[in-house]
Amino acid sequence: THTAVETEVLIVGSGPAGASAALFLSTLGVPNIMITKYRWTANTPRAHITNQRTMEIFRDVGIEAQVLADATPHHLIGDTVFCTSITGEEIGRILTWGNHPARHADHALASPSLNCDIPQTYLEPILVRNATARGTQTQFSTEYLGHTQDADGVTVRVLNRLTGTEYTIRAKYLIGADGARSAVAADLDLPYEGRMDVAGSMNITFKADLADLCRHRPSVLYWVIQPGANVGGIGAGLVRMVRPWNEWLIVWGFDLAHGVPEVTEDDALQIVRNLVGDPALDAEITGISLWGNNEQYATRLQRGRVFCAGDAVHKHPPSNGLGSNTSIQDSYNLAWKLAAVLTGQAGPSLLDTYTAERAPVAQQIVLRANKSAREFGALFEALGLDAAQSAEQMHAQIEERKDVSPAGAAKRAAVREAMELKNYEFNAHGVEMGQTYQSSAVVPDGTARPEPARDPELYYEPSTWPGARLPHAWVGDSTHKRSTHDLVPYGEFTLLTGITGEAWADAAQKAADRLGVPVRTVVIGPGRDVTDLYFDWSRLSGVDEDGAVLVRPDKHVAWRSHCLPADPEAELMSVLTVVLGRE
Ligand code: FDA
Repeated sequence: THTAVETEVLIVGSGPAGASAALFLSTLGVPNIMITKYRWTANTPRAHITNQRTMEIFRDVGIEAQVLADATPHHLIGDTVFCTSITGEEIGRILTWGNHPARHADHALASPSLNCDIPQTYLEPILVRNATARGTQTQFSTEYLGHTQDADGVTVRVLNRLTGTEYTIRAKYLIGADGARSAVAADLDLPYEGRMDVAGSMNITFKADLADLCRHRPSVLYWVIQPGANVGGIGAGLVRMVRPWNEWLIVWGFDLAHGVPEVTEDDALQIVRNLVGDPALDAEITGISLWGNNEQYATRLQRGRVFCAGDAVHKHPPSNGLGSNTSIQDSYNLAWKLAAVLTGQAGPSLLDTYTAERAPVAQQIVLRANKSAREFGALFEALGLDAAQSAEQMHAQIEERKDVSPAGAAKRAAVREAMELKNYEFNAHGVEMGQTYQSSAVVPDGTARPEPARDPELYYEPSTWPGARLPHAWVGDSTHKRSTHDLVPYGEFTLLTGITGEAWADAAQKAADRLGVPVRTVVIGPGRDVTDLYFDWSRLSGVDEDGAVLVRPDKHVAWRSHCLPADPEAELMSVLTVVLGRE
């Protein structure tokens, strides 16, 4: 029998992109179904570093505390070690993920939320649970087979893998969040740049108590330089903490040119003992899996009523920890737009801004992650390892950095310089927080994009330049302290102004009534909705007290006005008409 099930949005995949899309849509009250091929969520730890942009999104949808409860916190993740093995010699350390005191300040100033480490095996169940509790119909063991679309919707063929029965789901929109080998993206024939399977890596998960080796330098990442460490996709051998300090994951490369190796449990145990540096280590191997490193991004993320998000449109090594973060941020960009179009608040052209805004991010992060992996080459070169043929030669080269000689001094300087480069992988705060959109859902204010004062990949610089992420500042009153981000609910446009800008509130209400779109106004100042507790907002707002910053549901600036114009209602009408595609 063939019953067509109906919904507003069908999501394929329950990974970070799919499960978060379901959560965001359900939070916005949009009926949705999420199908996923397997009986449960990710079965290996995979992505883990969860950056501030993602954490403030979790804060927005009310799950930040749940995530933190299962995470290793900010201060335990960043004393990152480069060594010959965990018990062996240290080549250097770098404070990562904003744990250097100066970089910690940058992080604390940038967002109400700090980053943390939560393995995908812990994060996905939180996303799926909250999505389902809020309304998502979650269907496990259900496989996407194909789709057709017409003017009014998408008809999707799916297979119930338990019963072997096929049925169809009719939806107004379809999101393909089905990962790096996306069938939805293939069916859409999305255009890609770059290539897949650039290099091979293996993941070995194991249990062993390494607390004594980590206590004085707690980190998620311990990078190991050993013979063969420069093969594969992430730049060096890696011992990664999954749970402090008794569950671990090793990433070790292999040369794809020699085919895909067969890795036995004995091989895995040997690799674990080598990298930990304890030939008798008592370790339990819990999993072995092989994966390919990719350098590929889509230049178009949608066709008609079908959208792709996550690894389906950006495929890259885990360097910089951007995979899961970007996948969640894709869905955060898409979900409010779908909700606005489905409720008639926006015209369908708003949906075209998804590619305009997120395709440049896909390109940026794929290139950044691959560059970071390759930049490990500088460390191998600095140590003189590119010429080393054997373990003995490698050892001798590494020893040379201790020499009282010009060669020793040169090597020490070269190592310092190579380590400095790794900030672009582990402290790329600007890459994480500085994404700025240009599309028809952003109205320029005639000013030029501010020139960065510091390296824009390493440093985030707050700005209300239209398209930028809303700067965070603490506001509130004598009983509450809130972030400017907390003033802007997901699903509504919000206008931030000061006391002499109070006339904006009336103008916004009239524009909202005429368009049938909620537009909140928050007046920031003494005796008003909230006060500028530390006077940070007045410095960051980028406009005069009687100006206004119009913030989209996803906390990006849609438009700003430097002062109160003669007819604020007319200005807002024309801006919102453009942003919402209502012309
Ligand atoms: P993801 O691949 O997570 O999810 C795809 C979903 O689609 C799954 O739920 C799957 O079941 C479903 N699906 C696929 N085909 C389907 C079909 N035909 N029908 C129905 N459902 C279907 N990143 C990182 O930052 N650090 C790391 O260490 C690692 N390590 C790592 C290891 C391994 C082995 C992998 C595979 C990946 C990583 N990653 C990683 C990458 C990271 O996991 C990745 O960026 C995110 O999971 C991407 O999230 P998505 O939701 O886009 O896809």
